[in-house]
Amino acid sequence: MKPFISSSDFPLLEQPVNGKRLVYLDSTATSLKPKVVLEAMDNYYRHVGANVHRGVYSLSSQATDLYEMARVSVARLISAAQPESLVFTRNTTEGINLVAYAWGLKNLLPDDEIVVSELEHHSNLVPWHLVAGYRGAKVKAIRMTTDGQLDLEHYASLLQSGKVKMVAIAHVSNALGTIHPIQKIVQMAHQAGALCLVDGAQSVPHLQVDVQDIGADFYAFSGHKMLAPTGIGVLYGKLEVLKAMPPFLGGGDMIDQVFPDHSSYAEPPMRFEAGTPAIAEAIGLGAAAEYLMDLGMARVQAHEQALTVYALEQLDQFEGVTTYGTRGANRSAVIAFNLENVHPHDVATFLDAEGICVRAGHHCAQPAMRALGVQSTARASFGIYNTKEDVDALVESLKHCIKFFQ
Ligand SMILES: Cc1ncc(COP(=O)(O)O)c(C=O)c1O
Repeated sequence: MKPFISSSDFPLLEQPVNGKRLVYLDSTATSLKPKVVLEAMDNYYRHVGANVHRGVYSLSSQATDLYEMARVSVARLISAAQPESLVFTRNTTEGINLVAYAWGLKNLLPDDEIVVSELEHHSNLVPWHLVAGYRGAKVKAIRMTTDGQLDLEHYASLLQSGKVKMVAIAHVSNALGTIHPIQKIVQMAHQAGALCLVDGAQSVPHLQVDVQDIGADFYAFSGHKMLAPTGIGVLYGKLEVLKAMPPFLGGGDMIDQVFPDHSSYAEPPMRFEAGTPAIAEAIGLGAAAEYLMDLGMARVQAHEQALTVYALEQLDQFEGVTTYGTRGANRSAVIAFNLENVHPHDVATFLDAEGICVRAGHHCAQPAMRALGVQSTARASFGIYNTKEDVDALVESLKHCIKFFQ
């Protein structure tokens, strides 16, 4: 298995951690950033610097061009038909909150139902709890199976109430890496008369995503998990659905006309981008999208899945290691695991001393942890910059860790 990219693309990989080579296995939490992304942001601050959508002077129109070109790049990455259907947000969490508040407060009535799943990240649960609370609606969850798949029969039975207005589901689970049959989930929601929001935080960075094929009404994701900076994310929405929604935040840049006592609003996406946006971050996101498209998302997925299969083969040979999640092709590059009698935090601390970064905890997925019957897990996750040597380093260190704690 050859390295997929040149490690020199990622400056952080050249920096030792605790005196050891950095083995970064926490891409599910956030990704490393390639030079092209850092350079794109640096270029904006050094050579452009102006605000967007405001001035007529040349630096301002250059800033606007760069910002809008980034929207076009990301639209191409997810095969959206119109760049205007992409709203820049801060992250996935903000995208979901935008829909929950702007769509939910307008459209949800008492006793309406929102369907989520037990496997969701808290950011696709809590916004719905809040808005359901304001509107007197109910949130119901699709059960997950013990190997981390969604129970589609249970989903079908939830849809039969005739009261479901929104289905909000992740495309890929951050806790277990399951790739859900998202097209089918969206179709079933639509057949039941509900809209569907897909949390794409873990899919856009790792899979070929085609929002038109998937057919979801909304698709939210974060820049920082897909090689781009923090502070920028995207909410894709079908244009007709976005057009029918009131704004989420009010302020400059999102208006049509303002009078002292009332205002009217711009068309999407501007309607949902109040105030000065994260300009450099959006430009960085555009560079990340171009970088991923140059690599090819099918190749990205194949590389990361090969690493996952290789890692699971090694871990299966260990006594006292439990791994969680499905073993089929519907698994992305996430390995949640526990070592017998060793707390996941101790595992992560032990590995850190070896320069290996893994996450430990409930992964912002407490309902999923409860369904698995555990408090927490350790989690190794892969990105395009990981190699077979990284997996070998993980496996060797886990052997030492098991011995140490015996
Ligand atoms: C599946 C999933 N949804 C939502 C989020 C929230 O992402 P952010 O913190 O960037 O808003 C995460 C972050 O880990 C995630 O994995």
